[in-house]
Amino acid sequence: MQAFTDLLSEVDAEIAKLGINKPPHGLYEPIEYVLSLGGKRIRPLLCLSACQLYNDDYRRAMPAALAIEMFHNFTLLHDDIMDNAPVRRNKPTVHVRWDANTAILSGDAMMIKAYQLLSQADTGNFAMLLDTFSRTAIEVCEGQQYDIEYSRRDDVTLDEYMEMIRLKTSALISGAMRMGAIIGGAPSADIESLSEFAENIGLAFQLQDDLLDTYGDEATFGKAIGGDIMENKKTCLLISAMQNANAQQKKELNYWISVQNPARDAKIAAVRSVYDALSVRELTQSRIDELFDKAISVLNRMDISIEGKIFFGNFAKTLVKRSR
Ligand code: IPE
Ligand code: IPE
Ligand code: MG
Ligand code: MG
Ligand code: MG
Repeated sequence: MQAFTDLLSEVDAEIAKLGINKPPHGLYEPIEYVLSLGGKRIRPLLCLSACQLYNDDYRRAMPAALAIEMFHNFTLLHDDIMDNAPVRRNKPTVHVRWDANTAILSGDAMMIKAYQLLSQADTGNFAMLLDTFSRTAIEVCEGQQYDIEYSRRDDVTLDEYMEMIRLKTSALISGAMRMGAIIGGAPSADIESLSEFAENIGLAFQLQDDLLDTYGDEATFGKAIGGDIMENKKTCLLISAMQNANAQQKKELNYWISVQNPARDAKIAAVRSVYDALSVRELTQSRIDELFDKAISVLNRMDISIEGKIFFGNFAKTLVKRSR
């Protein structure tokens, strides 16, 4: 199979070739800006490599891979408005560098562009591809809605959280693999298995994202640390803390969740110290490990080459061990 780093260079080269920026620059410059800041490109890479498992001509999946990356970047523009996030990929977010209207409209254009890219997909199964993409995209919206609703609720369960992240994050990661496998001509049982593998990896990926949001290194992560705490996001960390907290710790967490206009450093430090006392970091890490093991066992049950299993196993490992 084509090495990961080679696929990454190809995706980056294709994105650079899209030639996004033209008049009106107010619309297109922010799109070029966000796409040029890099990002890990995991979704297009999963799409291309899933195709590659069944078809040497993995480039057939490139339009779909680009469509998925474009869609992902669109969600980031809108997500950063919704989350009040100032920094992404170590640069000011679009709504900060320009303004919210710009991030909304450039985001809209990116979503449309994603469908335009997808329309170039060379497959005998286009209706299935389009349906998969659209179902995935609408799941991301559903997940984002739950994410916002949950930030205003104080009784969110771990099950509700897991379903929310399945929608907002896993769906696109799993959809990327599903689409690559469809284009590659995979048997339908394999499409389901790869999708299940990716779904578990996607869940682990979001748990890791939540961990990094509180415990990561800002320069490496590329996003402002503590954003989830400031926005009262019902992350795995906060839910686990609430489940295990004693009366005093519950009171402390509830105070910081309800206080208006708290000092940023004070709130983050206080909530983090409750997390530390309750070993929330270790609890979350063990959930990540469980999801990883589940993903690997799905992969191992599949009737695919050993090379393919090693490839996706290694990929999964880099995703859940990541620090950015
Ligand atoms: C960020 O996705 C949104 C989440 C699902 C956590 P990535 O972590 O894949 O972001 P980039 O594209 O690499 O910047
Ligand atoms: C990721 O949620 C889901 C989407 C962007 C659709 P987050 O809000 O945690 O993502 P980051 O941390 O801002 O990248
Ligand atoms: Mg966010
Ligand atoms: Mg968000
Ligand atoms: Mg996050």
